[in-house]
Amino acid sequence: MTKPLSKPMNILVIGSGGREHALGWKLKQSKRCGKLFFAPGNAGTSTLGENVDLLYEPVNTKHADAIDYFCRQNGVELIVIGPEDPLCGGLADRLTKPGRYIFGPVAAGARLEGDKAFSKQLMRAASVPTAEARAFSDAEAALTYVMARETPVVVKAAGLAKGKGVTVCSNNEEAAEAVKQMMVKKVFGDAGNTIIIEERLVGQEVSVLALIDGKNIFVLDPCQDHKQVGEGDKGPNTGGMGAYCPTPLISDKVMSTIEREVLVPMLDAMRRDGVTYQGVLYAGLMLTAGGPKVLEFNTRFGDPETQPLMMRLKGDLLEIMLATCTGKLDEANISWDPRCCCCVVMASGGYPGDYAKGKVITGIDRAEEDPDVKVFHAGTTRNREKDVVTAGGRVLNVCALGKDLAEAQAKANAACDKIHFEGGFFRRDIGFRVMKKK
Ligand code: AMP
Ligand code: GLY
Repeated sequence: MTKPLSKPMNILVIGSGGREHALGWKLKQSKRCGKLFFAPGNAGTSTLGENVDLLYEPVNTKHADAIDYFCRQNGVELIVIGPEDPLCGGLADRLTKPGRYIFGPVAAGARLEGDKAFSKQLMRAASVPTAEARAFSDAEAALTYVMARETPVVVKAAGLAKGKGVTVCSNNEEAAEAVKQMMVKKVFGDAGNTIIIEERLVGQEVSVLALIDGKNIFVLDPCQDHKQVGEGDKGPNTGGMGAYCPTPLISDKVMSTIEREVLVPMLDAMRRDGVTYQGVLYAGLMLTAGGPKVLEFNTRFGDPETQPLMMRLKGDLLEIMLATCTGKLDEANISWDPRCCCCVVMASGGYPGDYAKGKVITGIDRAEEDPDVKVFHAGTTRNREKDVVTAGGRVLNVCALGKDLAEAQAKANAACDKIHFEGGFFRRDIGFRVMKKK
């Protein structure tokens, strides 16, 4: 373990979602946690530390210099970068300096998430199991290809598209339409200049997140996310409507296979390219009849997966992050609460389409009266009267621990029932894919 410093460490967390609230909440429990800053944070993070008005999008010299100046003025020694955009934009590269720890990979590592064509190429070179795919930069060629396919495909914008750049198609016409939307109508802007067309896989989806310190890998307990807006996984995709951890879908044996066949080869491939990868590597996997296959890599903590992970993590997150930043993950003390955690997202009416903001939220205190419940804020802020109000599509992440998934889910749903904001809704079935029908 890293040697304890005599003085507390000040920390800046970049981002504003439930993930950042959960990371801040866990960091705050560390004996070494000094002042906590969030940029920009939300109404929840403001109860843990100070929300500061620092811009990080787009990543450029002006924004990076302002963050650097703030950190020097406020003695910030650890910067935790939550979201993908600043990582892919090279914020970690720009802020790196002696005496400062950055949790999150440099741009060359974050490219695994920001450039799906590159990521596929690296997977192929490293023999990592993934869907068969081809990249196209020419719309005509892509259209000819999809029309000739006899099995269903998935069309993906190669660049970052806020989790929306993927169309799972049932037939050639749908695939052709998706190609046109991305390459001709440019609905995702430059993110669709190159697209990936890949075979459609079937199976259960799981999220396996691992800490990586440049050379060591520590695989976190597996989670299952629920991306679709409606119960029974119906309706359009969202940023995630809930997640639970651990999922029984992956046995220890399969976890070892994933580590050996997915994570280790990717880390080796990056090292061969001279990239020192530090932070989280998150593999989105499909458990197919032919074994686990990678759908995508994310180069950060998942949202909402992080919320149940933090609820169950035993050990000091600050020490764990410092160990990750200093190549000492093999010495870190990480274990898990044996209980299960279910995280239910409360969203604004209309989400993932248009929704209203500024709705007053009540009942969070009552929901948290149960000691096994914690409510993380995502899209929230305070109005002039200092009420907590909605400020985004995904508003709250209501997490509960239980002896099993059924108990955790029941507690999380009961907690959601105590919370109110106009138009708010949530899925009551988080975890249904592994639960017996009542
Ligand atoms: P991605 O951002 O690449 O993870 O894709 C978003 C979602 O699309 C995934 O969570 C899956 O539900 C679905 N998806 C992506 N790739 C495939 C695939 N090859 N086969 C089936 N579904 C997929
Ligand atoms: N939970 C999906 C993501 O973080 O991308």
